[in-house]
Amino acid sequence: MLMRHFFLYLSQQRNLRRWMETSRHAGTLTERFIAGVTLGEATAVCQRLNAEGYSVALDYLGENVTSLDEARGSLNNYLRTMDRIAERKLDSDVSIKITQFGVDLSIEACLENVRILAAKAKAIGSRVEIDMESTKYTDRTLQLAAKIAEEFGCVRCVIQAYLHRSEADIAFMNAHKIPVRLCKGAYDEPPSVAIPAKPDVDTNYAHLMRILFDQGTFPAIATHDEKLIHAALQYTKERGITRDQFEFQMLYGIRRDLQKMLVEKGYRLRLYVPYGTAWYPYFMRRLAERPANVWFLAKNLFR
Ligand code: FDA
Repeated sequence: MLMRHFFLYLSQQRNLRRWMETSRHAGTLTERFIAGVTLGEATAVCQRLNAEGYSVALDYLGENVTSLDEARGSLNNYLRTMDRIAERKLDSDVSIKITQFGVDLSIEACLENVRILAAKAKAIGSRVEIDMESTKYTDRTLQLAAKIAEEFGCVRCVIQAYLHRSEADIAFMNAHKIPVRLCKGAYDEPPSVAIPAKPDVDTNYAHLMRILFDQGTFPAIATHDEKLIHAALQYTKERGITRDQFEFQMLYGIRRDLQKMLVEKGYRLRLYVPYGTAWYPYFMRRLAERPANVWFLAKNLFR
């Protein structure tokens, strides 16, 4: 638990971020979790994964931009990604963060940026998934997702099982028929807003997952937790929910054994594939989830 807080604290350190992201070891360090720096590298990974039976959500890494020009740059990168999805007929959507689209600077500008991307997604038959960041952004993320859903339809929004408020948020999403990606939650939140003990988060995840299966719209079950995955398989079987009514999601490079097992059994699985140079906060959250990753990475560096 202490290590988790430590890595999440480090993920906020801007100087360390600058130093790590420009390090000559960056590629070796990140290759397990990040598909590459360029769109070309991400495309090659996406094509390989599609050929192996996985769908993909491409994430152009970046968060908390500090100018509207930077936010526009994120949008342009995502528009290029959408063009690539269309040209190469990739089985992929995209996943964005509202802080990458400028929400800290102007909610209107951010909404306009997401609108432009959603219009493009709709035109090519793809979708925009909206990641959930810290609780500072929960209300704004949900409101923005609801607006985009109303105007374009092609959106999916993340709900985090560790938040006390999530059952009510899921009821809102279900009432508006907005598809949800359910994950546990990856940020450092106080007990006033988030369930502190991991076993209780897992119990809440199972509860919310059942609500989504019963009342949700094409839920995405995003976890590498074997017990929860088996609970999902069991529940859908009992309820007669077929494989085309939901999907599993996992992160690129994590629990490849489980990924393979699900695809071999004929389940839909979407892999979240990040690429780009702004990898540091994403990477540190992956270390926070499993501090043992540090030893694995150290071995790679000294190999
Ligand atoms: P849990 O942490 O219990 O892990 C279960 C098992 O998975 C572990 O025992 C281990 O084997 C493996 N594992 C998990 N994390 C690992 C890691 N980093 N390295 C190696 N092995 C690991 N969060 C958020 O706050 N906002 C978001 O928008 C998203 N989006 C998102 C999309 C997708 C597709 C996924 C799968 C996850 C997210 N997350 C997220 C992250 C999520 O909140 C959570 O932090 C991680 O998925 C880890 O939780 P698990 O459900 O895997 O369970």
